[in-house]
Amino acid sequence: MLKFFLLVTLIPAIYMADINFRRCPNNAPVPQTLSVEGCAGNKCILIPGKSLHSVGTDIIGRINSKTATTRIIARTLGIDLGYRVPRELVNACNGSIVGGCPIVAGRSFNYSVYIDRLEVPAFNIPIEVEVNLTGDGGVPLACARFNARIGSK
Ligand SMILES: *[C@@H]1O[C@H](CO)[C@@H](O)[C@H](O)[C@H]1NC(C)=O
Ligand SMILES: *[C@@H]1O[C@H](CO)[C@@H](O)[C@H](O)[C@H]1NC(C)=O
Ligand SMILES: *[C@@H]1O[C@H](CO)[C@@H](O)[C@H](O)[C@H]1NC(C)=O
Repeated sequence: MLKFFLLVTLIPAIYMADINFRRCPNNAPVPQTLSVEGCAGNKCILIPGKSLHSVGTDIIGRINSKTATTRIIARTLGIDLGYRVPRELVNACNGSIVGGCPIVAGRSFNYSVYIDRLEVPAFNIPIEVEVNLTGDGGVPLACARFNARIGSK
C-alpha cells in the first residue's frame, strides 16, 4: 500500500518537468516556470489521444480582469492546425486559474490546464504551441509559446 502511494505521488514530480518557452508577440506576462506532462527542456512530444497536463506558475497579473479565456493554438510553419481546447476548458476561471478569478494587477496566479484527450492530427511533425490567456474585452493576461513534436505513442 505504501509503495502504491509513493508511486502515485512521485509520478507528477517525474513527468512534470519545466520546459523552455518564449514570450508571445503580444508581450503578455509569462509564467515563472512552465511544465508540460511528458516534456522537459526543449524536448516535448505530444501524443494524439493522450492526456495533456500543463502548469504555469507565478504569472504576475498586469491588469484587473473578471474573466479569463484559454486558447491553445498549435502551428506548423506558421499555419494554424485548427486545434481548439475542449469547450469546458475555455473559461479559465472555471478550474484552470488556481483559486479562480478575478485576476488582480500586481498579484501572481498559477494556471493549470488538464486536457484528458488531445485531439491533434497524428502526423509526426514539429509544431509550435501557444497557450494564450485573455481577459475582459480580449486584453492579454498571459501567453507562452513552446516547441513540440506530435509523436505517435
Ligand atoms: C466547469 O468545469 C467543470 C469541471 O471541469 C465542467 O464539468 C463544467 O462543464 C465547466 N463549466 C463551464 C461553464 O465551462
Ligand atoms: C504557485 O505555485 C508555486 C509552485 O507550486 C507556489 O510556490 C506558489 O505559492 C503558487 N502561487 C499561488 C498564487 O498559488
Ligand atoms: C492571443 O491573445 C491576444 C490578446 O488578446 C490576441 O490578440 C491574439 O490574437 C491571441 N493569439 C492568437 C493566436 O489567438
